[in-house]
Amino acid sequence: MLVSAKEMLEKAKAGKYAVGQFNINNLEWTKAVLTAAQECNSPVILGVSEGAGKYMTGYKTVSAMVQAMIEEMNISVPVALHLDHGSYDGCMKCIEAGFSSIMFDGSHYPIEENIAKTKELVKICAEKGMSLEAEVGSIGGEEDGVIGMGECADPNECKAVADLGITMLAAGIGNIHGKYPANWKGLSFETLDAIQQKTGTMPLVLHGGTGIPDDMIKKAISLGVAKINVNTECQISFAEATRKYIEAGKDLEGKGFDPRKLLAPGTAAIVDKVKEKIELFGSVNKA
Ligand code: 13P
Repeated sequence: MLVSAKEMLEKAKAGKYAVGQFNINNLEWTKAVLTAAQECNSPVILGVSEGAGKYMTGYKTVSAMVQAMIEEMNISVPVALHLDHGSYDGCMKCIEAGFSSIMFDGSHYPIEENIAKTKELVKICAEKGMSLEAEVGSIGGEEDGVIGMGECADPNECKAVADLGITMLAAGIGNIHGKYPANWKGLSFETLDAIQQKTGTMPLVLHGGTGIPDDMIKKAISLGVAKINVNTECQISFAEATRKYIEAGKDLEGKGFDPRKLLAPGTAAIVDKVKEKIELFGSVNKA
């Protein structure tokens, strides 16, 4: 059964660790993330971007697949199925499709409009028992064709959005999606500290988990980050392992072309990567 991310994130914030959101792209990805979370006895959030939702033919397919997999794989750790960087329309579709959590990314709207739309979704999510993530200050990098510059959020705007009754807050602190450029200045802990002081017990979300050095991740958790999103790193691990398999000519040996064999090393690589992150985030045995 899917759960809202509320309880797992409140526990994480209080216990000073973070729950990983790992984005899924297909059946193998989902199986790998669920396997890793179960083996680590850790709560987990499956993230679905609008692009990935479309790729998998729609949110209903994703929701049905994930719920069936939890049952068939006997997954007993808490799992939230979460829309990542949703539009208002995307959020409505995921609510209907049976997701247990959504992110409304209104960071590109003027703050008044972001607040107005977030407020409407707070009401709907409360009625449905779903968790809601809001965003202030756009996260840099490219995601589904949208390029942000990695701004730092205004702590007062963060407080205004946090007070609306959302479950968790994503705030830009110089983080970006995808690989970090060589001249990246690192996370702004000053901004994070100011945001946490204004928002108190609100679980904060760190997007762009790929490529942030371990010591910065740990410091961010100590300053109130309770959810960390990872996508690109799993994609790179999958691609590397698949490349190795092909380059070694394994697809040409026997039935090595069978997708169940061809995709196995990449899938195993995602399991390893997710376990590594769960250990770093400190959520092992927190199910
Ligand atoms: P990365 O792809 O940089 O890991 O970011 C993932 C993310 O923040 C999804 O919202």
